[in-house]
Amino acid sequence: MSRKNEFVLEKLEKLDEIINAFLDLKDFVYEKTIFDGNYLTTYVEKIHKYGNTFVIKRDTKIIGLVAFYANDLVKKYAFITMIVIRKDWQKHGFGKKLIELAKKESISAGMTTLGLWVHKENLNARGFYKKIGFIETGKTNKKQNFAIIDLLE
Ligand SMILES: CC(C)(COP(=O)(O)OP(=O)(O)OC[C@H]1O[C@@H](n2cnc3c(N)ncnc32)[C@H](O)[C@@H]1OP(=O)(O)O)[C@@H](O)C(=O)NCCC(=O)NCCS
Repeated sequence: MSRKNEFVLEKLEKLDEIINAFLDLKDFVYEKTIFDGNYLTTYVEKIHKYGNTFVIKRDTKIIGLVAFYANDLVKKYAFITMIVIRKDWQKHGFGKKLIELAKKESISAGMTTLGLWVHKENLNARGFYKKIGFIETGKTNKKQNFAIIDLLE
């Protein structure tokens, strides 16, 4: 059995499971402001209600997480609100795997575009997104760029 087969993808359905996964990966999350005060609960409640959360696990240990919305049936625009891979498992293809999953799920939900925000200073993530086909199309504010991928291509 290859080492990759030890890893499983799991959809998290319960609010407390999602909160715990975020807390578990806190050290590796780029946008730390989501952990300020009580904001995490508000942030995750919205994901739990309208979005999707998947984790990649090795046995019981969470290696990475992606959370995204694929519920805008008018604009058909899906949005990744969080992607994070545990530091010692970065550059092993797991980020790409989670993005591929978000793309597949978004296409199944009828979406035509997948977007995200990325901090200008997060050169690592910007390099990653560019490598896997995202195109930066503009700025959301002073600190972040907006990047998209066409799901119809
Ligand atoms: C950004 C992040 C999710 C990438 O995940 P990852 O698992 O390390 O990336 P992968 O191993 O799946 O890389 C996929 C491809 O992108 C390439 N890549 C990864 N990081 C790269 C970088 N900084 N520059 C250029 N290419 C990069 C890989 O070489 C790989 O290419 P290949 O398919 O030709 O082999 C991860 O680094 C992370 O969790 N960072 C901290 C949190 C964060 O910044 N999240 C994004 C917030 S917007």
